[in-house]
Parts: sequence; C-alpha cells; structure tokens
Amino acid sequence: MSGHYTERRTDSVETTERKKIVFSAIQPTGTPTIGNFVGAIRNMVAMQDDYTCFYAAADLHSITVDRVPAEFRKNVTEMVALLLACGIDPEKSTFFVQSHVSAHAELTWLLNCNTMFGEAKRMTQFKDKSKKHPENVNVGLFDYPVLMAADILLYRADYVPVGIDQMQHVELARNIAERFNNKYSPTFTVPEGVLPKFGAKVQSLADPTVKMSKSDDNPNGYVLMLDDADTIRRKFKRAVTDSGDEIAARADKPGIGNLLSIYAAFTGRTVEAAEKECAGLGYGDFKLRVADAVIAGLEPIQARFADYMRNKDYLTEQMQRGAEAAAHAARKTLEKVYRKMGFIRL
Ligand code: TRP
Repeated sequence: MSGHYTERRTDSVETTERKKIVFSAIQPTGTPTIGNFVGAIRNMVAMQDDYTCFYAAADLHSITVDRVPAEFRKNVTEMVALLLACGIDPEKSTFFVQSHVSAHAELTWLLNCNTMFGEAKRMTQFKDKSKKHPENVNVGLFDYPVLMAADILLYRADYVPVGIDQMQHVELARNIAERFNNKYSPTFTVPEGVLPKFGAKVQSLADPTVKMSKSDDNPNGYVLMLDDADTIRRKFKRAVTDSGDEIAARADKPGIGNLLSIYAAFTGRTVEAAEKECAGLGYGDFKLRVADAVIAGLEPIQARFADYMRNKDYLTEQMQRGAEAAAHAARKTLEKVYRKMGFIRL
C-alpha cells in the first residue's frame, strides 16, 4: 500500500488485480478535532482514489458510553454531514451508518462465540476505559473490539487505517479471522492495520506532550473542526510554546514542533519547509500564522457542512444509499458465515 499510509507488513502477496478493500469507521461522538482531521479523515478521503473503500459512522460503538438520545442523534447526523463535507464521496466509496446495516450486530454475535474471553480481556483500551468509568463497565464495552472485527471482516477488508490506539483491536480481528478460517474453511480476508504515514500526531495545544483530544478537560488544548475563526485564533494564541525564541522542530521544543506540524499539515508543506518559512517570526506572529492556515483550511469544509445540515433530505438520501450498498456486500459474507457454522438458512 502506498501513498498516505505505510505498509505495516511486507509479507502480503499481491494475488489478484482487483482493487484492495479498505474499511474504516469513526465514532460519532461529537465534532472531531483538527488532529482527527489530519491524522485520519484526510487520509480516508485520499484513499478513495486507489482503493474500494467502505467507511462507516460507528454509532453502535458509541453507545458503550452513556448517551443522551437527542444528542446522540444529532452527533450522527453531524458526523455524516462533516465527512461528506471533508470529501468522503458517495460516488467513489460506500459510506454508511453502522446501525443501518444489521449484519454488523449479527456477525458480532457469531464472532463472540469464536472469541476467547481471555483475549478480549487483554485489550488495553477496555482496561483503560473500565478504570476511567468504573460506574459503567458494561458488557458492550468489553465486546467493542468484536464489533470492530465484525465491521472489518464483513467487507473483506485488506487494509484498515487506524490510529495506534486501535491497532490492538485490528490485531484481534486478525486472530478471530484466522481462527475461524482454520476451524471452518477460508472465509474471511485477514485484514492488515495500517498507520498513517504523516500527519498522524497532533498534540494538545495546552500540553504538547499529550495527544490532542476533545475529551481534554481544557478546551484550549484542542481545536474542533467546527470552531469559528475567533475561537481558533484564541486557542492558538494561548498555545504553549517553549523557552527560547527559535522556531524549530526539535525534541526539546515540543510546543513549537507541534505548531509546525499543524502548519505543515494545513498548508501542504513539509515540516522542514514550514520551519524555513517561519524562521525569524516571533512566537506570537508564528502562532497567528498557524491559526490563519487552520482557519483557511477549515473554511470550505465548514461552509459545505452548513449546506448539508440545511438539507436533511440529502443526508437521508446518502445514508439510504450507503446502507443499501453496504448491506448488499455485508450480507454475502454473513450468509457464508452462517452456512459454514451449520445454521439452517431459508
Ligand atoms: N473504534 C474505532 C475508534 O474509535 C472506530 C471503529 C469502529 C473502527 N469500527 C472500526 C475503526 C473498524 C477501524 C475499523 O477509533
């Protein structure tokens, strides 16, 4: 796999001429940050030209945490509109809402019975989230990676672009697929997780040693894709820099390095080029320059997003269309699994 993602394994053999299949999903849990945008969404958009892509808004995954129904519904609508606004193109890819394709829930049950409690218990995200929300350690939280495996395996995905935090889950999906294939007969494509080659990491503006995250208690640490220009400028003005006055991407300058990589990502430059260009600017001016690049990059997306949000019929149409195409592809795999396991099919 070339272009925006690094090949994680080199042992895969090219066997056919068909386009490789990519599956990825994003949880609709509120507006994504610019870190999600440059680290994941932009790569999803770019991959549409080279791969057969299936992209989902993973709404089933997001109820492992308590949701207010009205807010949840709004989040899903906004996620669909935003991904379309970013360039996920229904003419090129199959883009759908996970719960609209019942095969995901069905395959999850079948896979549950082919997944060991012990291997699921080892998932670090489960351990972390259980610690963080001891009041709601529900079975869905535990089963979350198996639902992810179902997502991936239904579409026979070859590649699964994910952040490093989800890599262990893709690994589990591989194990489940291999085990099933050995126990019955070759059924699933064994997927490969792939990490983004660049733009993978945007750190918090308030603490450049941690990843930018919208669950940060300090809202100045993150920039949301729908933040307005004033908010973006304010957040960058407050961004933590480093001692000294040099603009350089160096280990001892995590704050400046982070701003440089954001600037590079939003202007299509390399970090080295960004460094050269900004050398000599004072920190205050530099931060404003970064803010302006982010504002300019988000502006057309925000405008398209607003258009889509005014046109709910269009969004519903796209969801319908995506669901039908996805269901068709998913059903084929699901039927195969049922049959191999010995279920009577009508
Ligand atoms: N769990 C992923 C996340 O939070 C989202 C997701 C759901 C996903 N299903 C997937 C990612 C399948 C890759 C493949 O980031």
